[in-house]
Amino acid sequence: MTILVTGGAGYIGSHTVVELQNAGYDVVIVDNLANASKKVIGRIEAITGKKVPFYETDIRDREGLNAIFEKEKIDGVIHFAGLKAVGESVEKPWEYYENNISGTLTLVDVMRKHNCKNMIFSSSATVYGDPAFVPITEECPKGVCTNPYGWTKSMLEQVLSDIYRADNEWNVVLLRYFNPIGAHKSGTMGENPNGIPNNLMPYITQVAVGKLPHLNVFGNDYDTPDGTGVRDYIHVVDLALGHVKALKKFEPGSGLNIYNLGTGVGYSVLDIVKNFEEATGVKIPYEIKPRRAGDIATCYSNADKAAKELGWKAQYGIKDMCADSWKWQSQNPNGYDE
Ligand code: NAD
Ligand code: UD1
Repeated sequence: MTILVTGGAGYIGSHTVVELQNAGYDVVIVDNLANASKKVIGRIEAITGKKVPFYETDIRDREGLNAIFEKEKIDGVIHFAGLKAVGESVEKPWEYYENNISGTLTLVDVMRKHNCKNMIFSSSATVYGDPAFVPITEECPKGVCTNPYGWTKSMLEQVLSDIYRADNEWNVVLLRYFNPIGAHKSGTMGENPNGIPNNLMPYITQVAVGKLPHLNVFGNDYDTPDGTGVRDYIHVVDLALGHVKALKKFEPGSGLNIYNLGTGVGYSVLDIVKNFEEATGVKIPYEIKPRRAGDIATCYSNADKAAKELGWKAQYGIKDMCADSWKWQSQNPNGYDE
């Protein structure tokens, strides 16, 4: 089976390509390198010992996508490609809606013209907004997103669900990720944020490596055990393996399926600092700051549905996540830049 991975040079995509190749799938990558380095392709091939065809193409480029589908025999698509910086999406909503929504619409159209109607889509726990309850099951109602990035995920879930409802030949899997962190065990692939990181773990690793002086903890007055925000952090390799398991929903007639991919465990910001220090021996100085706009107190999953229906469960614990994030950052202080 040949899987086209859009955004396959990115953080989650690259780890998923490795696990797909390890599991024996043929993989083709399409990525416009808007937020990725071409060097990733060589790193993937070094890990798996297999070549991976790579197309530097924008998914909004209909002719470019057509050419890929004509050349490669694609059985299904895992669709990661998209812009994902929350703050930037507030400043550039048009660019986010245009890239994420137009890109997906073009992709879906090219897929159906080539009679390829199997898609796994990268969604996010952000679609639950401030969740109605925790732990969050897939039955939890979708909520109000706090930024355009989140809305693109919520809207694209709707678009793909409607496409399935109109044509039941489609198999659509919506995977709602909780907070991916960690890196490949080799230390050769990991997250490579542009500029000052917004997300917690890359910020911590940049403090650890000496690029940033201290961590700012955004609020310690939430209704949580220690007052800091609680999230469900998941190792990126576990997340990647969840995609491999979800491929079983490409069986004809599988229909529309939605799964949370998380560990089911919530950690506070200060829990993460403590676990990082214990896992790496590196001290993380921090300062308490006001809450960050748009943040919620608590968000963690109930991932039982994925366990039951896909046979998938996250294996790595928080210490592995911290140690692997650190291995990647310390071996590659400038990410994929030399
Ligand atoms: P990433 O930025 O590392 O990967 C996305 C990739 O898509 C990049 O390599 C980028 O170059 C590519 N891309 C963007 N627009 C494109 C376009 N028009 N055509 C072709 N390629 C394009 O991000 P990631 O963390 O690996 O996230 C992957 C997916 O998962 C995204 O859709 C993201 O929104 C979603 N997601 C991420 C998180 C997270 O915390 N990282 C959480 C929930 C959902
Ligand atoms: C953020 C996004 C979410 C996106 C996800 C993955 C917002 C409001 N939400 O989620 O839409 O899907 O990233 O990309 O941006 N924290 C600090 N100091 C920091 C950074 C973070 O204290 O420097 C805290 C946050 O307040 C939060 C926790 O750490 O409590 C995790 O933050 P982060 O890694 O940014 O993820 P989310 O906010 O959960």
